[in-house]
Formats: sequence, C-alpha cells, structure tokens
Amino acid sequence: MRRVLPDVADDVDIEAEYAVAADLPWHVRTSFISSADGAVSVNGRAGGLGNAGDRRVFALLRDLSDVILVGAGTAREEKYAAPRPTGARLERRRRHGVGDAPAMAVVSERLEFDTGSDLFPDDEPRTIVITSESSPPQRRAELAPYADVLVCGKRAVDLGEAASAMRARGLRRVHFEGGPRLFGTAMAGGLVDELCLTLAPLLTGPGAGRIVAGAELADPSPLLLRHVLEEDGYLFLRYTMSGR
Ligand SMILES: NC(=O)c1ccc[n+]([C@@H]2O[C@H](COP(=O)([O-])OP(=O)(O)OC[C@H]3O[C@@H](n4cnc5c(N)ncnc54)[C@H](OP(=O)(O)O)[C@@H]3O)[C@@H](O)[C@H]2O)c1
Repeated sequence: MRRVLPDVADDVDIEAEYAVAADLPWHVRTSFISSADGAVSVNGRAGGLGNAGDRRVFALLRDLSDVILVGAGTAREEKYAAPRPTGARLERRRRHGVGDAPAMAVVSERLEFDTGSDLFPDDEPRTIVITSESSPPQRRAELAPYADVLVCGKRAVDLGEAASAMRARGLRRVHFEGGPRLFGTAMAGGLVDELCLTLAPLLTGPGAGRIVAGAELADPSPLLLRHVLEEDGYLFLRYTMSGR
C-alpha cells in the first residue's frame, strides 16, 4: 500500500490523492505532524518535525480549503498570518473552485491578540474570531474593527454552532490545523471527518504533548486508512473517521 509522495512536478497527482468530493456540503479535514514517538512539537513548535514533503502536503491542504480553523494557542505559538496565495498556489485554488484566499478562523476565549499582526489583514477575506458569550465584551468590541467576531456558545465555544456559522457564510471545506486542545474538543463533539497525519522519522523523547489534548474520549475513535505516501522516511497518512 505504501507509495512514494508524488513530486512537486506531479502536483496534479498529489491533488488527486487528497481530493474531497466536490458536492460535499461540509467537510472538516484535520492535519497534524507527529514524531514516531508521538510528539506534536519540538521546543514548542511543530516546524522542527517537518520536511519539504510535509510542507508541500500542508500547502496543498490549505489550497483546497475555504477556511483555516485553528485554536488561539497554535495561532499565537506559530505566529499565524492570514495566507494570501499567489502564483501557482493561487492558480491551483482557482482550478479547484475555491476563493482566491482561505479565510482564517481563530477560536479563543481570552481574545488576547496583536491586532497589528498579519493575522488581521486589511483586505478580504477578513479573519474570523470565534468566541463565546463568556469572553470579555470589551475585547470583543476592540477586535471588531479588525475581524468578524462570531459569538458561538454561552459558557464556552460551541464548535457545532461555529460550524453552522461558517456554513452560513458559504465556507464548506475546512482545514482544521489544531492544536491538540482544540482537536480534543472537536473530537469529543464528533466534528472531524478526516485526519491527515504526517509521521516524522524522529524520536524526540519525553515532554511534548500528543496530537489530542484535553478531556479523555469516552471510547477510542476508529479510523479508516485511505492512503500511505512516503518521502525520505516521512509517512503521509490519510484517514477518514469510521462511518463518515
Ligand atoms: N504538530 C502539529 O501538527 C501541530 C499542529 C498544531 C499545533 N501544534 C502545537 O500545539 C501547541 C498549541 O496547541 P494547544 O493545544 O496548546 O492550543 P490550541 O488547541 O491551538 O488552542 C487552544 C486555545 O483555543 C482556545 N479555545 C477556545 N475554546 C476552546 C475549546 N472549547 N477547546 C479548546 N480550545 C479552545 C483557547 O484560546 P484562548 O487562550 O485565547 O482563550 C485555548 O487556549 C503549539 O506548541 C503548537 O506548535 C502542533
């Protein structure tokens, strides 16, 4: 079953490997990279785990999406910027019938952001901040000139409500980039359709967390393996949630 990750020159093949049915009304694809011993970061960042193939797949998954959904922890730690694709990546988005740039949707309760950062560009699509009624009202008001603030849930963010709000905006294909705590919440809510996991050929030792954090799941969630690609010892695993 193992196959070699198609080369950059074969971009169309790699697109076929990760294609999602065009008529799906809603699809949440999660992607993570982990070391062989399960670490989700090196020195607090995921970048220390990746290789060129992983960056290629990550770029593709972003390019196939309407919206990038991420927890504020990851957005802060990884210094997220709202992507504005150009060149071949813009051309790829147009070929796949998605808007010229994916919207960025960040989930936060504390709403502690640097509104001068590239996470909040002046142009469209505006960044979306998803929060709940329990977040500080003044921070919500301060963010409003820089982002579309969606209040979803009373005491905590209700990701089901957030999903409905995104769908109402015509956003259907979600690239969900974690992190582990938000993934734990999304898993518990049954909101994930697919997991693309890069397994890096590295042993990093104890310390870092795993790809899911937070409350324990009631039961293990079975996954169906859709493909395994390989490049330089890195494995690119595409799973769908069983029953989806
Ligand atoms: N290896 C990989 O592929 C990968 C991918 C992503 C991230 N990471 C790593 O993971 C780390 C960050 O992940 P993380 O788990 O700490 O943070 P996270 O899941 O990205 O974000 C957690 C934050 O989301 C907000 N939030 C609001 N409602 C929530 C809810 N119901 N459930 C969960 N979160 C909610 C809170 O933000 P506020 O604090 O603003 O209220 C919370 O602090 C970084 O080290 C990053 O490098 C690795």
